[in-house]
Amino acid sequence: MKINRKFSIILALAATVTVMASATISKPADAPQYVNLKVLPKNISSNDLQKIMVDDFEDGLGVACNFCHAADKTTGQVDFASDAKPEKEIARQMMRTTMGINKKYFKIKHPMIGTDGLVVTCNTCHNGVAFPDVH
Ligand code: HEC
Ligand code: HEC
Repeated sequence: MKINRKFSIILALAATVTVMASATISKPADAPQYVNLKVLPKNISSNDLQKIMVDDFEDGLGVACNFCHAADKTTGQVDFASDAKPEKEIARQMMRTTMGINKKYFKIKHPMIGTDGLVVTCNTCHNGVAFPDVH
């Protein structure tokens, strides 16, 4: 029985290694999860990205995801990587502007949307509305 037990432990270890190896092959740890990031860090975690999309963008502007993200014409599903809606590129420009204001006027050294320490955020101007009243 002793040998049998040893053998099954070895089998279990071998199985674990096999699972780990195939996981590595199908999804390399350093493969970028998102394919079309031009402002945010390409290796951003899904948690951090979700927080930005929901807290800063959705809540900050009072809109849903599809205000900026276009639907795929064939599937009808939202295609988050697509740049088909102009609002997405405007949002990118707004991200750059927002970071620029923090850097230039508030001396934040490495301002990045979604990080702590920003003085000006989307919400500072938008305050829950997509088109801030500029009058
Ligand atoms: C105000 C516009 C806006 C809203 C609203 C918005 N997004 Fe985004 N989203 C962007 C922009 C801009 C980018 C690209 C950022 C960049 O280039 O660094 C992006 C990128 C993404 C990506 C990465 C896609 C890829 O592979 O490159 C995902 C996923 C995503 N958004 C999900 C969401 C979800 C989910 C919601 C709703 C909860 C949402 N977004 C709401 C503007 C928006
Ligand atoms: C300094 C103030 C300010 C900040 C900060 C700001 N915005 Fe804006 N944003 C505006 C104003 C003003 C308008 C309306 C412009 C207009 O009506 O032509 C606007 C409009 C927009 C629009 C709609 C454009 C359209 O015509 O459809 C989007 C999308 C947007 N902002 C995204 C963002 C996002 C995302 C952030 C944060 C990364 C952000 N903004 C930060 C002032 C700001």
